[in-house]
Amino acid sequence: MFENTRKDELFMRRLMTSERIKQLLEMLYFYDEETYEHSIRVAYIAMHMYDAAVDEGYFDVKKTNKKYVVAAALLHDIGKMFVPHSILHKKSGLTEEEFRVIQQHPKLGADMARIYLIPEVICEMIENHHKKMDGSGYPYNGNFPSEGALLVSAADIFSAITEKRSYKDREDVKTGIDIIYSEIEEGHIPEAYGEFLESIIDNLMAVS
Ligand SMILES: [Fe+2]
Ligand SMILES: [Fe+2]
Repeated sequence: MFENTRKDELFMRRLMTSERIKQLLEMLYFYDEETYEHSIRVAYIAMHMYDAAVDEGYFDVKKTNKKYVVAAALLHDIGKMFVPHSILHKKSGLTEEEFRVIQQHPKLGADMARIYLIPEVICEMIENHHKKMDGSGYPYNGNFPSEGALLVSAADIFSAITEKRSYKDREDVKTGIDIIYSEIEEGHIPEAYGEFLESIIDNLMAVS
Protein backbone atom coordinates (compact mmCIF):
# COMPACT_ATOMS: atom_id res chain seq x y z
CA MET A 1 0.00 0.00 0.00
CA PHE A 2 2.83 2.43 0.87
CA GLU A 3 6.49 2.73 0.13
CA ASN A 4 7.85 2.27 3.60
CA THR A 5 11.27 1.47 4.90
CA ARG A 6 11.74 -1.55 7.12
CA LYS A 7 12.10 0.86 10.02
CA ASP A 8 8.71 2.45 9.18
CA GLU A 9 7.06 -0.96 9.03
CA LEU A 10 8.60 -2.02 12.30
CA PHE A 11 7.49 1.18 14.00
CA MET A 12 3.91 0.74 12.78
CA ARG A 13 3.78 -2.95 13.64
CA ARG A 14 5.00 -2.33 17.18
CA LEU A 15 2.37 0.32 17.70
CA MET A 16 -0.46 -1.72 16.20
CA THR A 17 0.36 -4.76 18.27
CA SER A 18 0.74 -2.94 21.58
CA GLU A 19 -1.94 -4.46 23.78
CA ARG A 20 -4.65 -1.82 24.18
CA ILE A 21 -4.28 -0.33 20.71
CA LYS A 22 -4.53 -3.83 19.25
CA GLN A 23 -7.75 -4.53 21.16
CA LEU A 24 -9.36 -1.30 19.99
CA LEU A 25 -8.26 -1.82 16.38
CA GLU A 26 -9.59 -5.37 16.37
CA MET A 27 -12.98 -4.15 17.56
CA LEU A 28 -12.97 -1.49 14.84
CA TYR A 29 -12.04 -4.10 12.23
CA PHE A 30 -14.94 -6.32 13.22
CA TYR A 31 -17.36 -3.42 13.32
CA ASP A 32 -16.39 -1.82 10.04
CA GLU A 33 -13.53 -2.94 7.81
CA GLU A 34 -13.69 0.19 5.66
CA THR A 35 -13.12 2.46 8.67
CA TYR A 36 -10.32 0.17 9.85
CA GLU A 37 -8.53 0.35 6.46
CA HIS A 38 -9.00 4.12 6.46
CA SER A 39 -7.45 4.36 9.93
CA ILE A 40 -4.34 2.42 8.88
CA ARG A 41 -3.98 4.67 5.86
CA VAL A 42 -4.34 7.83 7.94
CA ALA A 43 -1.71 6.47 10.34
CA TYR A 44 0.82 5.93 7.54
CA ILE A 45 0.17 9.39 6.10
CA ALA A 46 0.45 10.98 9.56
CA MET A 47 3.68 9.08 10.22
CA HIS A 48 5.31 10.30 7.01
CA MET A 49 4.04 13.85 7.53
CA TYR A 50 5.37 13.79 11.07
CA ASP A 51 8.82 12.67 9.88
CA ALA A 52 8.83 15.46 7.27
CA ALA A 53 7.83 17.98 9.95
CA VAL A 54 10.62 16.84 12.27
CA ASP A 55 13.16 17.03 9.41
CA GLU A 56 12.13 20.67 9.00
CA GLY A 57 12.54 21.24 12.75
CA TYR A 58 8.81 21.98 13.02
CA PHE A 59 7.92 19.77 15.97
CA ASP A 60 9.44 19.60 19.39
CA VAL A 61 9.63 15.80 19.43
CA LYS A 62 9.32 15.73 23.21
CA LYS A 63 6.12 17.78 23.17
CA THR A 64 4.59 16.21 20.08
CA ASN A 65 5.81 12.63 20.18
CA LYS A 66 5.71 10.47 17.03
CA LYS A 67 4.36 7.41 18.83
CA TYR A 68 1.46 9.41 20.23
CA VAL A 69 0.60 11.11 16.94
CA VAL A 70 0.60 7.86 14.97
CA ALA A 71 -1.33 6.02 17.71
CA ALA A 72 -3.93 8.81 17.61
CA ALA A 73 -4.13 8.46 13.83
CA LEU A 74 -4.71 4.71 14.21
CA LEU A 75 -7.46 5.28 16.77
CA HIS A 76 -8.95 8.55 15.53
CA ASP A 77 -12.19 7.00 14.24
CA ILE A 78 -12.82 4.29 16.86
CA GLY A 79 -15.86 6.34 17.89
CA LYS A 80 -17.44 5.32 14.57
CA MET A 81 -18.18 2.00 16.27
CA PHE A 82 -21.06 3.90 17.90
CA VAL A 83 -22.44 5.08 14.55
CA PRO A 84 -24.96 2.69 12.95
CA HIS A 85 -23.88 1.17 9.63
CA SER A 86 -26.99 2.65 8.01
CA ILE A 87 -25.53 6.13 8.64
CA LEU A 88 -21.86 5.24 8.13
CA HIS A 89 -22.48 3.87 4.65
CA LYS A 90 -25.43 5.97 3.59
CA LYS A 91 -25.18 6.63 -0.14
CA SER A 92 -27.26 9.81 -0.24
CA GLY A 93 -26.91 12.95 1.88
CA LEU A 94 -27.27 12.77 5.65
CA THR A 95 -30.18 14.32 7.49
CA GLU A 96 -29.42 16.86 10.20
CA GLU A 97 -30.09 14.25 12.86
CA GLU A 98 -27.79 11.70 11.18
CA PHE A 99 -25.08 14.32 10.89
CA ARG A 100 -25.44 15.02 14.61
CA VAL A 101 -24.92 11.30 15.28
CA ILE A 102 -21.74 11.26 13.12
CA GLN A 103 -20.45 14.35 14.89
CA GLN A 104 -20.39 12.49 18.19
CA HIS A 105 -17.71 10.03 17.07
CA PRO A 106 -14.58 12.02 18.10
CA LYS A 107 -15.79 12.49 21.69
CA LEU A 108 -17.15 8.94 22.00
CA GLY A 109 -13.89 7.57 20.56
CA ALA A 110 -11.77 9.61 22.96
CA ASP A 111 -13.89 8.49 25.92
CA MET A 112 -13.59 4.87 24.85
CA ALA A 113 -9.80 5.28 24.57
CA ARG A 114 -9.83 6.78 28.09
CA ILE A 115 -11.62 3.70 29.40
CA TYR A 116 -8.82 1.64 27.82
CA LEU A 117 -6.30 3.85 29.67
CA ILE A 118 -4.80 5.23 26.48
CA PRO A 119 -2.62 8.25 27.45
CA GLU A 120 -4.56 11.52 27.60
CA VAL A 121 -2.29 13.17 25.03
CA ILE A 122 -3.57 10.62 22.47
CA CYS A 123 -7.18 10.94 23.65
CA GLU A 124 -7.01 14.71 23.05
CA MET A 125 -5.96 14.11 19.44
CA ILE A 126 -8.78 11.62 18.96
CA GLU A 127 -11.30 14.04 20.48
CA ASN A 128 -10.10 16.99 18.39
CA HIS A 129 -9.41 15.40 15.01
CA HIS A 130 -12.37 17.26 13.48
CA LYS A 131 -11.47 20.59 15.10
CA LYS A 132 -9.92 23.42 13.11
CA MET A 133 -7.00 25.62 14.05
CA ASP A 134 -9.40 28.46 14.95
CA GLY A 135 -11.33 26.23 17.36
CA SER A 136 -14.27 25.68 14.98
CA GLY A 137 -15.35 22.19 13.95
CA TYR A 138 -16.67 19.56 16.32
CA PRO A 139 -17.06 18.66 19.18
CA TYR A 140 -18.26 22.16 20.13
CA ASN A 141 -16.23 22.40 23.30
CA GLY A 142 -14.46 25.75 22.96
CA ASN A 143 -11.08 23.97 22.91
CA PHE A 144 -8.30 24.47 20.43
CA PRO A 145 -6.71 21.36 18.93
CA SER A 146 -3.06 20.47 19.60
CA GLU A 147 -0.47 20.41 16.80
CA GLY A 148 -0.75 16.64 16.79
CA ALA A 149 -4.55 16.73 16.46
CA LEU A 150 -4.20 19.11 13.50
CA LEU A 151 -1.69 16.79 11.86
CA VAL A 152 -4.06 13.83 12.27
CA SER A 153 -6.83 16.03 10.90
CA ALA A 154 -4.82 16.96 7.76
CA ALA A 155 -3.86 13.31 7.16
CA ASP A 156 -7.51 12.33 7.69
CA ILE A 157 -8.90 14.92 5.24
CA PHE A 158 -6.34 13.98 2.59
CA SER A 159 -6.96 10.28 3.09
CA ALA A 160 -10.76 10.59 2.99
CA ILE A 161 -10.62 12.53 -0.30
CA THR A 162 -8.33 10.02 -1.99
CA GLU A 163 -10.20 6.91 -0.80
CA LYS A 164 -13.02 5.09 -2.45
CA ARG A 165 -15.96 4.76 -0.11
CA SER A 166 -19.21 2.90 -0.43
CA TYR A 167 -20.90 6.25 -1.16
CA LYS A 168 -18.23 7.97 -3.32
CA ASP A 169 -15.38 7.52 -5.78
CA ARG A 170 -11.75 8.25 -5.09
CA GLU A 171 -10.16 11.58 -6.05
CA ASP A 172 -6.54 11.73 -7.24
CA VAL A 173 -3.59 12.83 -5.09
CA LYS A 174 -3.43 16.27 -6.71
CA THR A 175 -7.06 17.00 -5.82
CA GLY A 176 -6.34 15.85 -2.27
CA ILE A 177 -3.42 18.26 -1.97
CA ASP A 178 -5.46 21.12 -3.51
CA ILE A 179 -8.18 20.59 -0.92
CA ILE A 180 -5.60 20.64 1.88
CA TYR A 181 -4.35 23.99 0.54
CA SER A 182 -7.88 25.37 0.49
CA GLU A 183 -8.21 24.29 4.14
CA ILE A 184 -4.95 26.13 4.84
CA GLU A 185 -6.30 29.26 3.14
CA GLU A 186 -9.38 29.08 5.36
CA GLY A 187 -7.06 29.04 8.38
CA HIS A 188 -8.17 25.55 9.34
CA ILE A 189 -4.78 23.83 9.37
CA PRO A 190 -1.23 25.22 9.70
CA GLU A 191 0.40 26.38 6.47
CA ALA A 192 3.47 24.17 6.89
CA TYR A 193 1.35 21.02 6.86
CA GLY A 194 0.71 21.47 3.14
CA GLU A 195 4.46 21.39 2.53
CA PHE A 196 4.90 18.30 4.69
CA LEU A 197 2.19 16.56 2.71
CA GLU A 198 3.75 17.59 -0.60
CA SER A 199 7.18 16.48 0.52
CA ILE A 200 5.90 12.92 0.91
CA ILE A 201 4.22 12.93 -2.48
CA ASP A 202 6.14 9.83 -3.62
CA ASN A 203 4.69 7.88 -0.73
CA LEU A 204 1.28 9.29 -1.49
CA MET A 205 1.53 8.32 -5.16
CA ALA A 206 2.19 4.79 -4.00
CA VAL A 207 -1.05 4.96 -2.03
CA SER A 208 -3.29 6.00 -4.87
FE1 LIG B 1 -13.38 11.20 12.09
FE1 LIG C 1 -11.18 9.56 9.63
